[in-house]
Amino acid sequence: MKRTPIVAGNWKMNLLGSDVTAYAGSLAAAGPPETDLDIVLFPTPVYLAAVARAMPDWASVGAQDVHAEEKGAYTGDVAAGQARDAGAVWTLAGHSERRQYHGESNTEVARKAERALGAGLTPVVCVGETLEQRQQGETEAILDAQLAPVLAVLDAADTDTGAGGGAVLAYEPVWAIGTGLSASPEIAAAVHGHLRQALNDHCSGLGDAARILYGGSVNADNCEDLLARPDIDGFLIGGASLDPASFLRIIRLCTGSGSGPAP
Ligand code: PGA
Repeated sequence: MKRTPIVAGNWKMNLLGSDVTAYAGSLAAAGPPETDLDIVLFPTPVYLAAVARAMPDWASVGAQDVHAEEKGAYTGDVAAGQARDAGAVWTLAGHSERRQYHGESNTEVARKAERALGAGLTPVVCVGETLEQRQQGETEAILDAQLAPVLAVLDAADTDTGAGGGAVLAYEPVWAIGTGLSASPEIAAAVHGHLRQALNDHCSGLGDAARILYGGSVNADNCEDLLARPDIDGFLIGGASLDPASFLRIIRLCTGSGSGPAP
């Protein structure tokens, strides 16, 4: 089954308003990707609406997190419906930094994914093991535990159909995030195959249709070898997405349109 690759930039708690507007301008000036590719940027919530307005129509934006409840007394949080209203069509759910610094459990992540789906957002559910868990041989068990409550909220109707529909997984080994130590294509492909099988086991065809991204120290030097693996459907990129020239370079490499430097 053909799955449109995704190249997504997770800006985390970086960049100011003037930076994100200039970034959108750089993307617009570079023009749309030469092959079928979904380009997504995840700004901090204060800039979500501005980025959604400024982005060319071939790129879309997502929230970095949404609350599991529909609305209410949750100071500082963002509802899925609000993110959608501000122009988001995607949201991350369960990024390891949310799990680590905000104590998000597997169940809460699944509730966020469910809430996002209900609000018309495509959740990009992040899963991944720590270095210690990998060294202990626990990778698959950890991933299965993270995935189980998420599977419970997904059915055939959630077969990934792109922005505004379905669900996307992102395999983000914690040991590879922000460390410069990307998973090898072999390691990533093995995990992606496992996740795809789990989706198919849960619901026939779900795994074949769903896009599974890799994240963790992706850059212009390693993206081509990773994307060459059939089970790797694109990337969630942190550090290398902060500079538009670097992000555009990765986009060009992922569309096979040259490895030259940014214009
Ligand atoms: P990184 O971050 O590319 O800086 O490793 C990836 C992520 O956390 O999504």
